[in-house]
Amino acid sequence: MTPVEIRARLDELAGQAGACVACRLHERRTQAVFADGSPEADIMFIGEGPGYNEDKEGLPFVGRAGMLLNRLLGEVGLDRSEVYIANVVKCRPPNNRDPRPDEIEACKHFLVDQLRLVDPAVVMTMGNFSTKLLLKTSVGITRTRGQVYPWWGRVVIPTFHPAAALRSGPAMEATIKADLEMAVRTARERLADPDAQAGVPEPPDSYEQLGLFG
Ligand code: URA
Repeated sequence: MTPVEIRARLDELAGQAGACVACRLHERRTQAVFADGSPEADIMFIGEGPGYNEDKEGLPFVGRAGMLLNRLLGEVGLDRSEVYIANVVKCRPPNNRDPRPDEIEACKHFLVDQLRLVDPAVVMTMGNFSTKLLLKTSVGITRTRGQVYPWWGRVVIPTFHPAAALRSGPAMEATIKADLEMAVRTARERLADPDAQAGVPEPPDSYEQLGLFG
């Protein structure tokens, strides 16, 4: 697919998410929040789900957690416009409660298509929900973060959710920054190394084929 075709397909999927009624989250949304950033990104970030501000604005990570993410991206030399940012669920869970398993199940095909189409060198999962989903693990983020996990010929690097750093303070912020630096370094290495790219399987056609989420 050409970059133009990829953008067109992502736009089409965003339209479908906006009209989706597959789970109860559609009932109280202002709008679905599909993604922000570049479909040609080398690093893709995955959060949990839209909050109050995201639901109003239609973009992920535009509230306080998003401001922190933007700042930390800047500190490692990245601009938000050059990465791709999405969430596990596309509609805001009421009162920012955790997304429920059936809601994640109903929404995951959008995320699979985003992963397949953007096809980043590095996927950075932020927090427990996206990390557990992609790595199919029940191990918590404190133990999984800051490591490089092979994932369909690419890699996943989990880190804490920026909202957790807002609650917990500067030490966790510094940890996220270190994980971001690892993501930048890893993406650079993988893109520069023909061996890292060789033998990379074609992105699967469907989430059944991907076997991603169990
Ligand atoms: N938290 C998330 O997980 N995603 C957002 O888009 C905003 C806050």
